[in-house]
Parts: sequence; structure tokens; C-alpha cells
Amino acid sequence: MPLSQESLDAVLGLRPFRFFPQIDSTNDHARAWLLEGAPAGAVVIADEQTTGRGRFQRTWNAPPGTAILMSVILRPEVAPSKLGRATMVGAVSVAEALATVPSLPMEMIGLKYPNDVLLVGRKVAGILAEAVWEGDRLVGVVLGIGLNVRIDFTGTALATAATSIERVTGVSIHRTDLADRLLKRVDHWAARIGERSLFNAWRGRLTTLGQRVSVRLSGDDTWAIQGLAQDVDEEGALIVRDDSGADHRIIAGDVTL
Ligand code: BTN
Repeated sequence: MPLSQESLDAVLGLRPFRFFPQIDSTNDHARAWLLEGAPAGAVVIADEQTTGRGRFQRTWNAPPGTAILMSVILRPEVAPSKLGRATMVGAVSVAEALATVPSLPMEMIGLKYPNDVLLVGRKVAGILAEAVWEGDRLVGVVLGIGLNVRIDFTGTALATAATSIERVTGVSIHRTDLADRLLKRVDHWAARIGERSLFNAWRGRLTTLGQRVSVRLSGDDTWAIQGLAQDVDEEGALIVRDDSGADHRIIAGDVTL
């Protein structure tokens, strides 16, 4: 069944939402809606995204009928130092929504630091959480989620790095229902954004810990640090121990195994 205004009307109940058959970026639209006063939990959903954004100015586009592309408005009451937890909200929520799909045991689902959701070791979803400020006042956070449902990466540069739910399971996915289940997990974790339980759920699914990692810092093509991913902390930083035994606290690195 197509993702549509009607199908979303039928399942989302009272949740404010804006649906677009085609959009440039759901995050950009959600940002404007947040500044106009959209409430927490409101969501922008699109069937096709043409100039979507990923981290580090990467693009994140999806043809019609192939993905769940959404941006949820959060109005978290946490210290600025804890805003990184919005990414945890997104990642844990996607993992838990995926776990409701038949033929997807938990062991197939993992999180790669800091914002990727993996299915059998390949990226199935990305999270882009963007804080929106008016001067020094935090207006809210736009939590962008791109989840591959039936994108065919065969023959593309992403063939070995990315996957889609239907490719792995062979099960036909009803995107509206899955989007609804995902939004309910976002509601749950957004209400607990400052709590230890969120950190524990995120940390417990991170496949990155214990792995050898190379850290590329934002916008830089060189490998800045190589070492063992030791742990993460409550603010979402990754602790990497380099070969000389020194620990580095990585906040906004791009981590590659
Ligand atoms: C990443 O892995 O780099 C993050 C990708 C985030 C993509 C989603 S798709 C919906 C939302 N709108 C955007 O423009 N980006 C996010």
C-alpha cells in the first residue's frame, strides 16, 4: 500500500503531521514548522526526497515508494551538553521498531557509532538530529530519520555498505504501519531523553565497542585517530584508546571500522 495522506490519517490518530509525496528535505521543512510553533511529536513525512541531507553535507535522497523519510519535532528539556542524546533517541527507536518486523531477530540489528542503524552489518538507516536555536534559546530539535525499506543498492557505490529491510527479510513492509510504530518509540524515548535507561539501551546495541576504529574528523579526509573503541559516555562521546595507550574523547567524529 502506498504511503499517502489517507493511509497516515488512518493510523497516526491525533498526531500533527505533514505529508509530502515529494520534498526537498523533511528536516528543512520540519525546521520551519518548529519555528512556527509545531508541538513536540509533530512529524514531516515524505514519500520521495530529492535534496535530503546526511551528516557532513552528504546527500540522502530516496526514490518514491522505497523508504521511510521523516523528521520528528522534539522539544527536549535538557542541558545543551546533552543534546547529542537526540541521536540516541532516533537510533534506539529505529532499532526497536525494526525488531517488530517478522524475520528480524534482535541479533541482526545493531547500532554503529554515532548515528547508523545496521541490519546484518550494513547501514539500513541514518539519523540526523539538528538543534534549532533562536539566539541562545533552544527552540527544539529536528530528528531526521531515513530508513531504507526497499531501495535496491545493487550496482551502486553503496552495494556492500547499505541495505534495505525487504532485501534482508523478504517480508513485504507496510510503511505507514512501520512509521507509526517508529513514532511511538520516538515518543517513548524522547520523554526519557535525560534518563540513564536511554543511554543503556543505546550503549547495549552499539556494535562499535571493542572494535578497532579509525576516526575521521568532520570535513577532513585524513584519519585523525586510530585505536580501539573503548566505551561511550552519557553525552554520547566515544572513547578511543590509541596504540600508545592514550584515550581520546571523540564528540563529532565520523567513525569508520
Ligand atoms: C546520515 O546517516 O548521514 C544521516 C541521514 C539522515 C537522512 C534523513 S532522511 C529524512 C531527514 N531529512 C533529511 O534531509 N535528512 C534526514
